[in-house]
Amino acid sequence: MAVDELRLLHSRPQAPTSPGWADDGYRRDVQQVFPRSDMDDVDPVAAYHDVDRPAPAGRPWVLVNMVASVDGVTAVDGRSGPLGGEADHRLLGVVRGLADVVLVGAGTVRTEGYGPPRTPVVEVGERRADRGQAVRPRLAVVSGSADLDPSAALFADRNPDDPPPLVYTSTDVPPDRLVGLSGVAEVVATDGALDVAAVVADLYDRGVGIVLCEGGPGLVAQLCSAGLVDELCLSVSPLVVGGGSGLLAGAPLPTPTSLRLAHVLAADDFLFCRYLAC
Ligand SMILES: NC(=O)c1ccc[n+]([C@@H]2O[C@H](COP(=O)([O-])OP(=O)(O)OC[C@H]3O[C@@H](n4cnc5c(N)ncnc54)[C@H](OP(=O)(O)O)[C@@H]3O)[C@@H](O)[C@H]2O)c1
Repeated sequence: MAVDELRLLHSRPQAPTSPGWADDGYRRDVQQVFPRSDMDDVDPVAAYHDVDRPAPAGRPWVLVNMVASVDGVTAVDGRSGPLGGEADHRLLGVVRGLADVVLVGAGTVRTEGYGPPRTPVVEVGERRADRGQAVRPRLAVVSGSADLDPSAALFADRNPDDPPPLVYTSTDVPPDRLVGLSGVAEVVATDGALDVAAVVADLYDRGVGIVLCEGGPGLVAQLCSAGLVDELCLSVSPLVVGGGSGLLAGAPLPTPTSLRLAHVLAADDFLFCRYLAC
């Protein structure tokens, strides 16, 4: 890139330019860094929801949302929580509001104490209704072992109006685990090894249009490896952590996936990068 093509994407103002916090929660003090915008603040719901996501042929749109430190680490002491912050949580709710299904690996469920998706803010709820989506996304867990506690929050705290979480697993697991889970989840058990492409295909057959994968690195690596990721939303946390694992676990991808930058928002020293697969 020639020097005259370099763009300063963000320069922190010396003094606050906005009058203060708005009282409408999710949208306060979010600035658009790229593409350049003359507006001081942007509406993050519009930034994520009012964009095209053309349906890929024969499968749902797959979006990955992760948070990483500046040095690319995705967990501190085994959890992603310390990387997050208030702005990150607000934006997570906005991104979650896009999904028909939130897909997670069992490792993340176990370490993060996953709960059921919450009711989104009004602006997101209106868009979901316009798109014909359910009030809240459904949760889907991939677990080769079915080693999930049926009394865990994601099962026990589900809104009774919502369908139970989906659990994708194998018929090879101890039968009592399948029995325990079948009372609190819709269990989809297949013979042999679980293939993420088959999971995504099953979701498509159920009418799912947008799948949001929230990790962890093991599951995301498989989706990337299978060429199934259409959009990657990365929150860059203003921390340097050292050690630890990155966005993808396991072996390198067969070929690196090229991405195109769709937007960068900034809030509370976080960057929120939205990439599309080329
Ligand atoms: N920074 C972030 O945004 C973020 C997001 C999520 C997670 N994390 C962190 O990531 C760590 C967990 O990572 P992880 O890679 O272990 O978790 P993961 O990808 O969530 O889960 C891995 C587990 O998912 C199941 N699984 C995934 N693919 C499978 C397949 N093809 N067949 C059968 N089972 C499959 C297996 O569960 P079974 O063991 O039950 O067979 C496997 O052990 C935690 O430290 C968490 O805090 C960070």
